[in-house]
Amino acid sequence: MRLVFLGPPGAGKGTLAKIIAKKDGLPHISTGDLLRANIQAKTDLGKEASQYMDKGELVPDRLVVEMVQKRIAEADAENGFILDGFPRTEPQAKALKEMLRSAGKDLDRVVNFDASDETIIIRLSGRRICSGCGEIYHTKNIPPKAEGICDRCGKQLIQRKDDEEATVRNRLEVYRRQTAPLIEFYRKEGLLENIPADKDVKELEALVQNLVS
Ligand code: AP5
Repeated sequence: MRLVFLGPPGAGKGTLAKIIAKKDGLPHISTGDLLRANIQAKTDLGKEASQYMDKGELVPDRLVVEMVQKRIAEADAENGFILDGFPRTEPQAKALKEMLRSAGKDLDRVVNFDASDETIIIRLSGRRICSGCGEIYHTKNIPPKAEGICDRCGKQLIQRKDDEEATVRNRLEVYRRQTAPLIEFYRKEGLLENIPADKDVKELEALVQNLVS
């Protein structure tokens, strides 16, 4: 299965992608995670990307497309993947189509997480991520067993820099302007599946699993 998880920031794409990827044995390819790993490793890509990410802007297409092209060429992605947070612009969607087409492949489904602004604000303001393994928590919805500590690896939970209120507002604006048009793009391609993302994790898991199995 070659899947794309599409949707606004904070809709729950990463949370569901981790669950479905583990269950179905697919690699979870999050461009946000890959870019943050580059920032942490202080690579040239990380240095350039952080200038955009800190403001809630999109990283230029050429950088992200090259990064994804390399990642999906790795052996574990040979028979499928979940792309989370990519594509985010029409040029990225066209580049993805072309890179798959040239390998004789195609996408199977694009799952669009449809969430209200209210849900997004609540989810992003309470999000905490593990500084060690990247596990995602929420202070109220999905809290860790011990406050501020990851259940999986025991490392400290932190708040993402781009989850501060002003940056979230800009990310939503950027989503509406640059990414939301992909809903229509993939509808026309006959690949779009809409899910109401305002539900709890278990309900969403069942909905998504049903669509992709
Ligand atoms: P990225 O990391 O991809 O951020 P995003 O798309 O804005 O998505 P988020 O990670 O914020 O949200 P999510 O939908 O994964 O929600 P989550 O599962 O964490 O990108 C960051 C930046 O990198 C971008 O702004 C851009 O600069 C750059 N970038 C990345 N990809 C790019 C690209 N292709 N092109 C250009 N630039 C790119 O959940 C959110 C919270 O809600 C969590 O606390 C979670 O615990 C909770 N939650 C999740 N599901 C539920 C539920 N069902 N019920 C209750 N709570 C829930």
